[in-house]
Formats: sequence, C-alpha cells, structure tokens
Amino acid sequence: MYTLHNADSFEWLRSQAPHSFHGVLTDPPFGIVEFTPEELGKLRSGKGGVWRIPPKIGGSERAPLPRFTTLTPAEREHVRAYFRSFGEALMPVLVPGAHALVAGTPMLQYLVQDGMAQAGFEVRGAVMRLYRGFRGGDRPKLAEEEFPDVCVTPRGNYEPWMLFRKPIAERTVAANLRKWKTGALRRLTAECPFPDIIQSGKTPCLEEDIGEHPTLKPQHLLRILARALLPVGEGVVLEPFAGSGSTIAACEAIGYDSVGVELDAHYFQKLNASIERLSRLYPNFQGDRMALSPEDVSAAPKAKRVPAMQAEFF
Ligand SMILES: C[S@@+](CC[C@H](N)C(=O)[O-])C[C@H]1O[C@@H](n2cnc3c(N)ncnc32)[C@H](O)[C@@H]1O
Repeated sequence: MYTLHNADSFEWLRSQAPHSFHGVLTDPPFGIVEFTPEELGKLRSGKGGVWRIPPKIGGSERAPLPRFTTLTPAEREHVRAYFRSFGEALMPVLVPGAHALVAGTPMLQYLVQDGMAQAGFEVRGAVMRLYRGFRGGDRPKLAEEEFPDVCVTPRGNYEPWMLFRKPIAERTVAANLRKWKTGALRRLTAECPFPDIIQSGKTPCLEEDIGEHPTLKPQHLLRILARALLPVGEGVVLEPFAGSGSTIAACEAIGYDSVGVELDAHYFQKLNASIERLSRLYPNFQGDRMALSPEDVSAAPKAKRVPAMQAEFF
C-alpha cells in the first residue's frame, strides 16, 4: 500500500506526525540546481544548462547527465546546508534507529554526509552500486590531442548510496528492534548479511519505457536496498523525492508500505501509472538475492527502445 503527495518535501515533512516512518530510500537532487524549474525547462527543451548532453559514442545517443563540476564553491556549501536542513526536517518524523539510504555522487558525497551528520544522523558508510557509467574519464577539454594519455577524473564505476541512522533510543539494538522495529538492517537470507557492494547494470530500457525520468533507478537495485531498510519486515518506507516512483514501485513489489513525495507536477501526474507497471515487473524478485535470474528477465516484456551502448568497466 502506498500514498503519494504533490508537495515540497521540506514543507511536507514539517507537517508530519513524529515517528511516522521506519526507513528512507531516496534519490535526491544532488547538486540542488538540477531540478529547479529553470534547469528542468532547459532539460526539456534540450538547451543543456547544468544538464550536459554527452557526445555520441559509436553513433549511440546518450542521456543527459547533470554536470556537477560546474558547481561554484557557494553552490557546494549550499549542498551541505541543503542536506543539513533536509536531515533536520527528517529527524523528528523517523522512529529511533530508522535507517536512510541516500543516493549520491562521489564528488558531492562528503557534503551530503557532513550535512546529515550536523542534523544528528550517524554516518554508517555507504552501499556502492557498481555500474558501468559514462561519467568522467575524459581528456582535458579542447586539448584532447595534446594530452592523449591524460584523463582529468577517473572514469566513474560506482554510485554511493550513503547510509545514515537516526540514533537508537533504547539501551541495545535488540531492545530498539523490539520496541521500534528498527536499529538494524534486514539480511538477504538468514545465512547472508546485506552487503555494501551491489553489482547493478544501467537501468534497463524496459524500465525507462515506463518511468520516463532522467535519473530513473533500476528495480533490481531498489528492491535490494528497500528490503534491507525494514529489519523485521514491518513499518513504512519514505521516498521524499519520488521522481518516477521507482522506489515506491520497489516497495510495492516487496510488499512494504511506502509514502512518496514529488514536487514537479509533470512527474507527479505520471506516478500512479508508472508505479503500477514498474512494480509488476520481475514478480519473483523481492530483493532477497543479489541478481535477477534469467527467468526473471526472460519473463519480462520486451523493451521498445534500443539499448544505449553499455560502457566498459575500465
Ligand atoms: C533524482 S530525481 C529522483 C528520480 C527517481 N529516483 C527515479 O528513479 O525516478 C529527484 C526528484 O526530486 C524532485 N524534487 C526536487 N526537489 C524536491 C522537493 N523539494 N520536494 C519534493 N520533490 C523534489 C525532482 O522533481 C525529481 O523528480
């Protein structure tokens, strides 16, 4: 069961009852500027702005990516302040011991972690989504031929999902689990703990056909992450930056209750339809194993669009 709200999550959080949520799985705007109405307008008209259109590789179109290296020092500080105020708004509505998994980008990770720590969250490391990204690895701009053996930044092969915990309120984790149902993470199976590395490909075209959003995350990854958030399988998961509803769909597929908030009216009006379709994909996959099986994939409908080129790992 899920509910959706077309609202600014900061304001919305401040109007929620204390201790309403048991976990947070979110993919927030990292650099803050990329989801302002002005930048979304530029993205939708193909005018670029902070949304860099990567050059074609081997004739294949590549989706726009936000360009975080353009952030000024003041904008970087804004990221830290943004996550501090996000953490402060979130803290009272969570039960003690609730975990939050927050998607980030390696270059801005330290700012997000510092902001959340200032708001009172414990920084509990990060889960690395290993994927074959196109970000980074470029030669110096306009001097590519002069410096053929140089790359300005490493080619990106991971996306950190930063892990935070609201401090527990009881004397032990076990006591917190009994009282609040939180304080720890759910194992994949009794024998297999939840890991901090998840091998995850690009979001499949099939899912992109359904959830049209520039930063759509894959169901495979989200179901593994969402499942881990409720250690005894009870409670409500919050996604305060819902986008296409992929997190809510993952919770639906697992059988968890969830609440989504999305500011943008265009994305919001598509949410119910995309959640319903995304949640019905891979009906045998509830995030309790590390990979989709060949049967999960072959039983899914075929994608309409041609897969974009898959980058190599190195
Ligand atoms: C990175 S995207 C999430 C994409 C999502 N993970 C998916 O797979 O579709 C962040 C979303 O947060 C929304 N957003 C930005 N600021 C917001 C705010 N203050 N309150 C609620 N939503 C906001 C944006 O419109 C955008 O859809």
